Amino acid sequence: MDSLLTEVDHVAIAVRDIDAAIAWYAETLGARVVHREEVLSDGVVEALIKVGDSYIQLLTPLRDDSTVATFLERRGEGLHHVGYRVRNCAEALAAVKATGARVLDEVPRPGSRGTTIAFVHPKSSFGTLIELVEESAQTPATTRS
Ligand code: CO
Repeated sequence: MDSLLTEVDHVAIAVRDIDAAIAWYAETLGARVVHREEVLSDGVVEALIKVGDSYIQLLTPLRDDSTVATFLERRGEGLHHVGYRVRNCAEALAAVKATGARVLDEVPRPGSRGTTIAFVHPKSSFGTLIELVEESAQTPATTRS
């Protein structure tokens, strides 16, 4: 089969203090935030740092009932998930489900930056939460700089 994944969209890192993390990436690596967004449906704030055509996504919870708050409590700061670009999220999700893999989203839903996303359960994917990301025409990542 052809790969469903076209590029790495983002590597998401859960942090307790997003401003401290943003400052560390800037001061230590010279890497700067290009987009910041509150994703109210997930109860998180994210800051995107561009690396080539991909992003580092710093994530911190806005609420105690956010899954990222639970993650930080159980596992501490660190890698939270990897987002891969796909041509069509609904088709990719259907293809993944057809293999019997467990998913967290039965149907695609809106993500940040106008993307359409769905998560694959980490129990199916060797411990790493995987996000399938379909960009919209307006998504910043599609503008090559
Ligand atoms: Co993500």
